[in-house]
Amino acid sequence: MPLFNLFARCLPDGIDIYFENVGGKMLDVVLLNMRLHGHIPVCGMISQYNLEEQEGAHNLFCLITKRVRMEGFLVSDYFPMYPKYRDMVLPLIREGKITYVEDIAEGLENAPANKVNRGIENVGKTQRHRVRDLERQRERERGGVGMAEVSNKQVILRDYVMGGFPKESDFEFKTSKIRLNVAQGSKSVVLKNLYLSCDPYMRNRMTNSTGSYVAPFTPGSPIIGRGVAKVIDSGHPNYKKGDLVWGMTRWEEYSLITEPETLYKIEDTDVPLSYYTGILGMPSLTAYAGFYEVGSPKEGEYVFVSAASGAVGQLVGQFAKLKNCYVVGSAGSKEKVDLLKDKFGFDEAFNYKEEHDLDKALKRCLPDGIDIYFENVGGKMLDVVLLNMRLHGRIPVCGMISQYNLEEQEGAHNLFCLITKRVRMEGFLVSDYFPMYPKYRNMVLPLIREGKITYVEDIAEGLENAPAALIGLFSGRNIGKQVVLVARD
Ligand SMILES: NC(=O)c1ccc[n+]([C@@H]2O[C@H](COP(=O)([O-])OP(=O)(O)OC[C@H]3O[C@@H](n4cnc5c(N)ncnc54)[C@H](OP(=O)(O)O)[C@@H]3O)[C@@H](O)[C@H]2O)c1
Repeated sequence: MPLFNLFARCLPDGIDIYFENVGGKMLDVVLLNMRLHGHIPVCGMISQYNLEEQEGAHNLFCLITKRVRMEGFLVSDYFPMYPKYRDMVLPLIREGKITYVEDIAEGLENAPANKVNRGIENVGKTQRHRVRDLERQRERERGGVGMAEVSNKQVILRDYVMGGFPKESDFEFKTSKIRLNVAQGSKSVVLKNLYLSCDPYMRNRMTNSTGSYVAPFTPGSPIIGRGVAKVIDSGHPNYKKGDLVWGMTRWEEYSLITEPETLYKIEDTDVPLSYYTGILGMPSLTAYAGFYEVGSPKEGEYVFVSAASGAVGQLVGQFAKLKNCYVVGSAGSKEKVDLLKDKFGFDEAFNYKEEHDLDKALKRCLPDGIDIYFENVGGKMLDVVLLNMRLHGRIPVCGMISQYNLEEQEGAHNLFCLITKRVRMEGFLVSDYFPMYPKYRNMVLPLIREGKITYVEDIAEGLENAPAALIGLFSGRNIGKQVVLVARD
């Protein structure tokens, strides 16, 4: 029976704790079956010990979607606990509450065979309905009478893009009509979209993958994404005409939002409005939560950030500098590397596309190793980072962009280093940290105003350039946070 089916039978509700002893294919399948906030103490990976070449670990993206913590450990760190353990276990053995099976080979002459054979002979719902409901509700609202209609340019996803890199031809433009008033009695708002945010997770929404942590887009409908907008009309008590907001909207000039409760009102307008797609929006909260909450940084630690010049990375680097860490970043061009060092204050940076040996590049920039690796890319970079982690290092797993467009994921190698270096690798999703947003905003706004933190944006002008801007994230075309300007006010 395939391993996956076995888990469905034995642990139909999933796994909270997987005590990892074997690695390989078992780990691959377990990752698919982990429950939210599950833990994987990494004890050993015996299936890999005798292989000439390790099998790669697949499905590590589940660490992010399920916020799973994977932490290696070595028993040698716990020997001081031995007396406590012994006092706990001895009565249990005596009372028969715990039992133990041994396989005893007799005689030193049988010791090698026993070791060689070890491990072989010894015994011992998708949200689509909800999207459709919302569409229907919008349709009903569009039917309101006596409201002036205006034309509304939209960016539409033609069809799902299941594998490979998305192309501009996967999108089309449509001009529809929209009424700029909300129907009487409705709690909806009508928005005029000003800035739209291009984010890597949107690639996932372009696929029809059930069970994903985000619902797929609806082909034939406008792209859904975060943005900054002005309220044109409102039936909701929290919003009035003229308010500025940021949050979930659609890739079109005007949007009718039937559930405006998730929108954030913008009170501080002395900073560029586009910042609410980045340094005052979702990517910055990602950097903040991932670095401080998951990374648990300490003063003076060695920090490495991949995709370091992007929306999230540039902030992680600057937060790490504020914490007096030594910070190194990787990015995909000389221009980006210069930006990291000259504008964001990284101590060192390298262009990963021009380094023949990534391991050497890391050893050159971080000869004493890495305490915190802020993981944005996955793939080969993760493989070499694992070799360079320091004892008790942490890897906040934010994203794995190098894998998003592959037909088949590359496997992650060198996970055994989690054990030898007692490294904690923990996935997280920014959506869990939205309640922290006001705290974050109050922390970062004075830093922006005082020029202690800076932010680089790459602004594409006009909805017609939005598809190219979005797909450009996957070739590194963007320099800084990718934004689309729809209208200035
Ligand atoms: N966990 C969460 O809640 C959460 C929230 C937001 C974002 N994220 C993740 O955070 C990461 C960064 O997002 P972002 O918004 O800051 O994007 P971004 O860095 O502004 O843009 C993406 C960048 O990724 C790099 N890249 C693209 N393909 C690559 C590849 N094959 N190998 C290595 N690098 C590649 C490119 O930069 P180079 O020129 O340097 O290659 C590109 O500019 C993504 O993985 C994203 O999915 C996670």
